[in-house]
Amino acid sequence: MAFDFIRTDLDEQKSKSRYRQLVCNHVVEQDGYIKVNGKTYLNFSSNDYLGLNNHLAINKALQEGADKFGVCSSSSSLVTGYHYAHQALEEDICQWLDKPKCLLFSSGYSANLALFHALGKSDNSQFFLDKLSHASMIDGAYQSKAKVKRFNHNNIEQLTKLLTNSGTSANKLVASEGVFSMDGCQAKVSDLATLAKSHQAWLYLDDAHSIGVIGDKGQGSNWLADIDITMATLGKAVATSGAFLTCNDELHDYLVNFSRHYIYSTAMSPAMAWASRKSIELIQKEQWRRDKITELSALFSDLLAPQVELVTTQSSIHAIIIGDEEKTIRVSEQLKKQGVWLTPIRPPTVAANTSRLRVTICSNHNTKDIKYLAECINKAIA
Ligand SMILES: Cc1ncc(COP(=O)(O)O)c(C=O)c1O
Repeated sequence: MAFDFIRTDLDEQKSKSRYRQLVCNHVVEQDGYIKVNGKTYLNFSSNDYLGLNNHLAINKALQEGADKFGVCSSSSSLVTGYHYAHQALEEDICQWLDKPKCLLFSSGYSANLALFHALGKSDNSQFFLDKLSHASMIDGAYQSKAKVKRFNHNNIEQLTKLLTNSGTSANKLVASEGVFSMDGCQAKVSDLATLAKSHQAWLYLDDAHSIGVIGDKGQGSNWLADIDITMATLGKAVATSGAFLTCNDELHDYLVNFSRHYIYSTAMSPAMAWASRKSIELIQKEQWRRDKITELSALFSDLLAPQVELVTTQSSIHAIIIGDEEKTIRVSEQLKKQGVWLTPIRPPTVAANTSRLRVTICSNHNTKDIKYLAECINKAIA
């Protein structure tokens, strides 16, 4: 049979309890619930950290954006796809993060590929990546021409050694996530910024899970230090879709002129850009959403039984490491029977033997939800 690796690989995936299937959610994620196959579940796997999905004002802005600019940009940005909605959103983001330039992408995945490809133009570039960096950063880095070195998670000492031994001539980029997607812990942002500067390296942070959640206005890692280049998806706390990258004027110009991911892709929906502006306005104003995550996360941690291995964090993401794929699926299925949705996270998304429940605590959960979640997890894991 042609392409018979397809069947072999799928069979192997099943035999390792790593097989994945799509599940269709039948309701808009509202108040922290989803509906699958006719049953409603409390959803603790969503990335809608601030509970802004389906917010009336954002929906209204989306409609207004569609009326003013259309749903579709109708071309790539350099042809005619760059609308006033995009320009206004970029300006808002520059102000919010206090950065000179911003560029929009249709997804965080493509923004990461674009950045690493652009800076990894030659083997005179060197990338230093935290080992837990997202797949899109790893793909971008290794598909580029740069030399790639990985440092152990948050290990500043090892990174210092790598930078010290890296010579003087190369273009160096230190890259990490701001908040790590599968663990929820934060990068040592100010240490990374200081270290990068002292080695004439640039610092790149993927703030997919920090934006909206970290900082007194939800500005993410830039609240903690001055980051040279920041990428964040709009599909998580901002609760719309697409992504942005902030940087200096020259890199912005360079990406506009040379990034194939930017140039040869239809610009993001202008209606979505307009809706994103409203969401970012709310994120800056509504500190109570971040306070709620902190308060509910502390409650969750207090209520868990001692045998539950929780990674404690300052973010919305709280990992409960179970280890084995099969056991993780079993616990997840048991929780489903109690009406709690927690998608099991397995390799290759996380390292072997670290399969886990990735609990996301969002501003649209309440005390009752968290008490119920902790009670169900304690029963399932004890
Ligand atoms: C850390 C990180 N970076 C990038 C992405 C990709 O962003 P997008 O979903 O907008 O493609 C994700 C997840 O989706 C992520 O978790």
